[in-house]
Amino acid sequence: MSTLLLVNGPNLGILGRRQPEVYGTATLADIESTVTARIADRGWKLVSVQRESEGELIHAIQDNYDSVGAIVNPGALMMYGWSLRDALANYPNPWIEVHLSNVWARESFRHESILSALARGVIVGLGPLGYELAAQALLDLVPAAAG
Ligand code: DQA
Repeated sequence: MSTLLLVNGPNLGILGRRQPEVYGTATLADIESTVTARIADRGWKLVSVQRESEGELIHAIQDNYDSVGAIVNPGALMMYGWSLRDALANYPNPWIEVHLSNVWARESFRHESILSALARGVIVGLGPLGYELAAQALLDLVPAAAG
């Protein structure tokens, strides 16, 4: 069965209780359910990984290089996760960077992502809908023959 990889970085496991005025009230489990439902018709299974440390995220990505595509919210690693960047550079299939909040409307230190240039696309500021749109984009981008 083809798998779609969902990667969430530090502090994203507490969605729903993390600054709801910024990140909303949906939990990571809610997001996983929505993405799972969105990809079900294609027969894809979701593999969801959330870790607080960069090394563990890298292991998860390396272990899932055979997934058909990935959705990645790196959290603050967007700004300094050079090893994560190297792991994603070796990821063989399309992946989409998602940020719940509109990082451009926030502090200036969030205005740069060292990962974005490698991503197939970037979605910011749409809350949980961003993950759903990323899943839809991957459904369109991954050729039927690949999964
Ligand atoms: C975030 C934005 C990042 O700047 C922040 O460090 C996060 C969450 C978002 O989803 O909006 O942890 O990636």
